[in-house]
Order: sequence, then structure tokens, then C-alpha cells
Amino acid sequence: MNRNLFLNLLLVITSVAFTNCQNHTEVNAEPAETIFYGDTSIREELFQDPHSFSTEASVVKHLDWDAEVDFQDEVIRATATWTLEESHSDTIIFDTKNLNIVGVTLDGKPAEWSLGQNDELLGTPLIVALPFEAQKVTISYQTTDKAEALQWYPAELTQGKRMPFLFTQSQAILARTWVPCQDRPGVRFTYNAQVNVPKGMLALMSASNPTQKSEDGVYEFSMPQPIPSYLLALGAGDLAFIELGERSGVYAEPEMVRNAAFEFSQTEAMISRAEYLYGPYYWGRYDMLVLPPSFPFGGMENPRLTFLTPTVIVGDMSLTSLIAHELAHSWSGNLVTNATWNDFWLNEGFTVYFEMRIMDAVYGPDFADMLEALSYDDLQRELAVMLKEDPDATRLKQDLKGRNPDDAVTAIAYDKGFHFLKLCEQTVGRERWDAFLKGYFDEYRFKTRITEEFLQELAGLMTQEEWNSVGVEEWVYGKGLPVNCPFPASNRFSIVDEAVKMLLGVSPDDPSAKSMAYLGQEVTIRWSTHEWLRYIRGLEAGGAIEGHYRLADANYGFTGSPNPEIVAAWYTAILKTGFEGYDPELYEEKVESFLTTVGRRKFIVPMYTSMLEGDEKRQAWAKEIYTKARASYHPLSQQTLDQLFTEHE
Ligand code: BES
Ligand code: ZN
Repeated sequence: MNRNLFLNLLLVITSVAFTNCQNHTEVNAEPAETIFYGDTSIREELFQDPHSFSTEASVVKHLDWDAEVDFQDEVIRATATWTLEESHSDTIIFDTKNLNIVGVTLDGKPAEWSLGQNDELLGTPLIVALPFEAQKVTISYQTTDKAEALQWYPAELTQGKRMPFLFTQSQAILARTWVPCQDRPGVRFTYNAQVNVPKGMLALMSASNPTQKSEDGVYEFSMPQPIPSYLLALGAGDLAFIELGERSGVYAEPEMVRNAAFEFSQTEAMISRAEYLYGPYYWGRYDMLVLPPSFPFGGMENPRLTFLTPTVIVGDMSLTSLIAHELAHSWSGNLVTNATWNDFWLNEGFTVYFEMRIMDAVYGPDFADMLEALSYDDLQRELAVMLKEDPDATRLKQDLKGRNPDDAVTAIAYDKGFHFLKLCEQTVGRERWDAFLKGYFDEYRFKTRITEEFLQELAGLMTQEEWNSVGVEEWVYGKGLPVNCPFPASNRFSIVDEAVKMLLGVSPDDPSAKSMAYLGQEVTIRWSTHEWLRYIRGLEAGGAIEGHYRLADANYGFTGSPNPEIVAAWYTAILKTGFEGYDPELYEEKVESFLTTVGRRKFIVPMYTSMLEGDEKRQAWAKEIYTKARASYHPLSQQTLDQLFTEHE
């Protein structure tokens, strides 16, 4: 590591950053020496975020959004009225991408404005002159069919087939494709909105929400807590609501909403455990919206209204760590926000850590241990590839200038981040660690942090000895995984690992192989999704051959499983091999129908990858399915898969 890079400018921030976190707990030894770790570009990043055209010179503080959602033309026509914070410049710059700007006014009078040069990744800056003490900029515009944040989902593909569905996905830099805004996490604003949707539809935002449909399709929203643009969100469709508790509830299509309410019935318990751990929930309500299966993510932490994939509704609550995760973002991310996307691990690593703590509190340590072991596994598997292809991407602190922040959505931010924080916890002890985190969330609520500012706090918590034993700099700036990475052991998984050995130990041609490889139902009946995932991954890692997969499928019926998480792992494993399912017809139909309905990238990218790495027949099959399925995918999934298929041409 280049130490010259470090030391430079840190003193500047040092004096600003760090006040009271070290007061929460008593540590006898001297705190670690507060060297500031970072280079001189860090401060500049704060002034000029590498993923936004907007600058510190003029910033906004409030949005009034007035929108009409036209499902016929698949376009949103809107005006965005931005109230300005004090300005230090004669212009203000907004980010836009593939928007049609109709006009701009300043305090109701025509404004002087222009569009700057277009950038493929960042879009087009909208520059508005501020010749006088202007208060409000109003931008009239329309979205286009190139809006990457929007998915217009046709009625035929919904459960009820009565109405189409629209949902947005703004993170990381896609808010600018549906609202002209200062699209960077360093700018926060409050908002009010009035949204017009077709009659009979319910519209929802990351704000205060209706629970019932209005007569006229007009809805009003307000978000009184300041949020960054990536948390702007809108959903509209044929939706019903069920209350789960005092301050939580779930929205979904009427066909799905009861199952969703059952699946997420632990939400209220999670909120109170989270508050107990890290302080008050600042956002009023915590509701959830179940999206169509094409949603490219598992979840998105839109404030007051988490967006969710329906693929976690499996009937046994086994996948609700996703709720714990999105809820945890109400602190790590939404309350204390990564200042730029280079510090993305501050959002996701903290959130995975917090997710595990919530799961531990609500479901018990044995359950949380499984999640931690899977996180460790994910990390190892992804690291192996990344260290070969792009070792720099294995650092927690990223340098994403000129790159899509989507590139940093890897196991590094999530799982390396998690393990680092877990090691910190183990090093200082849970009591000190929890007090520290609580203080951190409190001190910096509704603010942003860069990695170096967090390290500054950490240096205040730890003794020099603790700091050295963790090896903080290596964890944050080094490549790969330090040797002192905690290794999570799981009781429940040790049984699974035995079962894997048992299966791999039989010779598939043996006439009694099937029964020899079968683990009694009295054991597997208690297995959750996570045990099955471990089992399938164990087969892969243990070098299972076709015959083993055949036995496993015959015994446990993976190919026909109704659980999307299990089938995705299963297909990913077998699509690499010559095995075509215990029942080949069923297999073919299942793989196709999965890939043509589900758009969650975590599932379909590995599946397509396995196919493209298989023999010619499978490659051709992958292309055939993708050609059919592409139109029903979200623009983000399309982008990722287009790239994957190009790489395999
Ligand atoms: N905020 C992320 C999703 C995201 C990250 C979208 C970056 C766009 C850019 C969300 O909280 C998340 O992490 N989702 C995970 C959940 C999982 C780790 C429990 C997902 O969707 O898989
Ligand atoms: Zn997350």
C-alpha cells in the first residue's frame, strides 16, 4: 500500500469530523493515533461527485413534483419545482438523462437554460442561469422510452391481468431518467408530490402513502425528512394494502397480498429490535410494496416504502432477512448516507452487518449463523473470480470515476464490508461496538459520510493495539481478503455438510444408491431455504457429477421446487453439466418459464452464465430463451444480460 497517498489532507477533515463517539464507552488505553487515511482527491469528490454534473455551488433543498402517469403512451409528463438552498453561483446544474425538457421557469418567469454535452453514462447536464435572487426553478418535462429507471409492466403479465404496473428504480444514478435532479447522494431534499394515474389504480411513493384507491386517480404525497435523489421512488398498479402492525403494512396485487402479509408478519418485531440496537426509526411508517417478478433486485430501501421482489414469498418466512436488510438501510444508508458511490460499502456493508444482528435477535443465533456462513461463501466465490479479472475492484473503498456505480454492486461492498465490521465487533466487544454504532447513527443522521470520516471515528473507538490487530487499512484499501477474516461456523450447516458427503460418497450406478443417498424426511422437513442452498452449493463445490445430481433430484425434487431461491441455485448448478433433470420435460419447461417470468438479476445472471459456459446446445438454448424473455425484463437486467451475451459471442 502506498502510504504517501494517505497522510495528506486529513487534518482538514479531522477537525470537522469527529466529536463524541468516543465518549460513549470507557476504554482504558489511549485511543488509536488518528492518522487520516485518504488522498487529496477525496475532498474534491465531495465538491464534485464523479457521477453528477451538479456542483456544490448551487444546491436544492425541496422538490414539488406534479406528474401525470400515462400508461397508454408509457410516459410521465411532469413539472419538477426545485426550491433552492442559498446559491454561490450564477448557474445551477441538474442531471438529466434521456428526458425531454419542455421548458424552464424561474419563480414563474421564463428562464435562460441550456443542455450541455451528453455523456453516455451520466446523461446531459441541464444548466439554468440564476441572474437574481431566485428561489424556485420549475422544469417541465417528459420521460422517454429510454428511461432506465422505469419499467412499464403490461397487464397481461401481472397476477390479476387487470391493469398494468409501473415501478421505478433510482439507485444508483437513474433518478435522472425520470426526474431532473441533482443526482448524487451528497444532496438531500424534502419533497411533496401530486401524481395522477388512471382511475382504479393506486399510486405509491417513497413518502406518506394512501392505503386506499382514490375516486379520481389523483394522489398526494409528502416526504418531510430530507432524502438523496436515489431514494425517489414511485409505484402504481392494481394494489391492495394489509396492515401488519402499528406502523407497518404491505401493498401487493390483491391476489398476492395475503401471502405477503403472512410472509412478512415479523416486520414489527424487526423494527423494534432494530430500534433497540441502533436508536429511533426516523421515518414514521415502514411499509413494503411487492413488485412484479421482473424487479431486478431482491429489495430496494425506498424510505417509508421498501420495494420487494415477490420471489421471497415462499410460505415459510425463511427469506425475510431481505426485510431485515432493507429495514436496516433506514439507518445505514437512508439516515447516514454514503457521500459518493465510492463509499458504497458504507451503505451495504453496514446494512448486511445490521441485517445479521436483526436476524440474530428475531430468529436466533443458529439462523443468523447460516446467513453469515452463506455470506462468507458468496464472498469467497466472487473473490476468486474478481481477483483474476479485476483485483482493484476487491477494495472496499472504490474509485469509480468514469465507471458505472452499478459495477460496485458486488460481494465486496456487501460481504467483505460485513466481515470487516464483524471483525471490529469481535475485537472491541459487542457492548462497546453497539454503543459506538448507536452514537454514530445519532451523530450523523441525515448527513453523508465518506470512508475516511468513518475511519476517523473508528480510530477514536479503538486502542492502537485493537486498530493494529484488525489491520484497518489493509481491510479498507487492500485487495482480496485479509487472513484475519472471521470465519462463521454454523451448527445447522454442519448437518447439511454431512448430508452432502453422504451423497457424494455413493456411486451413482449402485442399485441402492438412491436410498443410500437419501436423508430421512424427519431431518429435512426442518430445513429452511438456506440449508437447501448450502446443500446444492455443497454438491457443486464437492465435484458432483451428473449421476449425483440425478440422485439428488430423485430424492428431493429440486427441479420442480416452488421456491425460486432453491430452483435458481439448482438450475445454476446443473445447467453447467450434461444433466437434464430427473424428468427432462419438466426441467425444460421449468427453466424456460423461470427465465421468462423472473427478472431478478441475482438469479438469472448466474443461470444464463452457466448455460453460456455449457455445451453448444445449452448456449443456443440460452440465446433462444433470452430472445423471448428480453422484452419482459427491466432495463437494468436487459443491460446486464446484453453485456453477458456480448462477452460470450
Ligand atoms: N440498495 C440495494 C439495491 C441496489 C444497490 C440497487 C445498488 C441499485 C444499486 C438493496 O438494499 C440491496 O442490497 N438489495 C439486495 C438485498 C440482499 C443483499 C438482501 C438485493 O437486491 O439482492
Ligand atoms: Zn442493501
